Amino acid sequence: MDVLIEGEKVIKGTITPPPDKSISHRGVILGAISEGSTRIERFLPADDCKRTVDCFRKMGVDIKFVDETTLIIKGAGLKELKKPETILDAGNSGTTMRLLSGILAGQDFEVIITGDESLKKRPMERVALPLRLMGAKVECTVDGKFAPLKIRGGRLKGISYEMPVASAQVKSAVLLAGLYADGETTVVEKHKTRDHTERMLSYFGGNVTVKGNQVTVAPVEKLTGSDVVVPGDISSAAFFMVAAAINEGSKLLIKDVGVNPTRTGIIDVLLNMGCSLKVLNERELNGEKIADILIEGGGLKGTRVEGDIIPRLIDEIPVIAVAACFAEGETVIKNASELRVKESDRIKAMVQNLRRFGAKIEELEDGMVIEGSKNLKPAEVESFKDHRIAMAMAVTAISVKGISKIKDAYCVAISFPGFFDILNNVVKGGEIDGQI
Ligand code: S3P
Repeated sequence: MDVLIEGEKVIKGTITPPPDKSISHRGVILGAISEGSTRIERFLPADDCKRTVDCFRKMGVDIKFVDETTLIIKGAGLKELKKPETILDAGNSGTTMRLLSGILAGQDFEVIITGDESLKKRPMERVALPLRLMGAKVECTVDGKFAPLKIRGGRLKGISYEMPVASAQVKSAVLLAGLYADGETTVVEKHKTRDHTERMLSYFGGNVTVKGNQVTVAPVEKLTGSDVVVPGDISSAAFFMVAAAINEGSKLLIKDVGVNPTRTGIIDVLLNMGCSLKVLNERELNGEKIADILIEGGGLKGTRVEGDIIPRLIDEIPVIAVAACFAEGETVIKNASELRVKESDRIKAMVQNLRRFGAKIEELEDGMVIEGSKNLKPAEVESFKDHRIAMAMAVTAISVKGISKIKDAYCVAISFPGFFDILNNVVKGGEIDGQI
């Protein structure tokens, strides 16, 4: 469905972002392989996370929804998953495919896992390689690189693995496979990526040691089902943070946001840009930090985004590029070539779309250079069926005078069902048409 958006708006009010996607997936995964019952509250009922639920149901795990966002999992234990009768389908979800590969590597059966057209174009050798080193048979059945993956698990041995790319999904797959290995499994990262798997494994009774950028998992007899309340997703909150930050006169309070330090690069960047942003009421929720964030709009200047911070804001780069368009001066984003292998080529998608709005933007192999401008005009843009591109475009559209159109905007439901409803509630001075 296409969505029409009328700018120029201010953003006012209080919102609670949807539950964290990464943590929702991990709650289901660890619940499924634990002993006893796991209750997940504030589970993200988005397409991606439902894929993880479906895959485990196909492997015999009893997962019941009490309501849309509360579910109870009766864990099968580490070794009692059943061979599924059909192939597993991860849909659009890289997290489902890659994290499940780690679990499947330790099961005593063969299974095929596939995905949608976008996921079948994303690199999978990066996860196959370390799992093979551990002793699993993992075949990327298309060109030796892409899904469907055929996985024959079995006895694994612990390895020490230096990550060639910064990827929390690959790190997590290796650590999860480590639960099934003889001996310890260690992952060493050049740049630290999100650590929700490590935190949740400890919370479920796993044996995890973290020393700087090095994580070691030792096998345990069992994991124990535990209750999880999922924090708000900072990656979803980011669209509203930027929407408020770039529109003078805006004031927005975002409540119960996960502020795990491996995810808060967006806060650091907005502060560097001169944004009025306060992190309030910090507290802890099942091993994860949460807080409320208050933002007031206007007065942004350009910045540099590169190096160690990139994995801490990898999903936020599209909307950071939007912020840069409304800032004074130049913003440089580098070392972000991973964006080329996300749900779409996010560098290409953002450059093409922002140019349609009249932005001055140069494409780099690993990022972009953006010159802020006061003269953006409304545009018709593509979502490339990528949820984060669609939402970044909506934030741009509410900030320019006139009516813009986003094609195929339904894909926001991959991570943020209800995005347009919440946007409608906080934009003042106009309506958004074409609700999904
Ligand atoms: C995720 C890790 C990141 C991120 C994705 C979710 C996760 O991907 O982009 O949206 O839940 O582990 P990579 O690990 O591939 O960078």
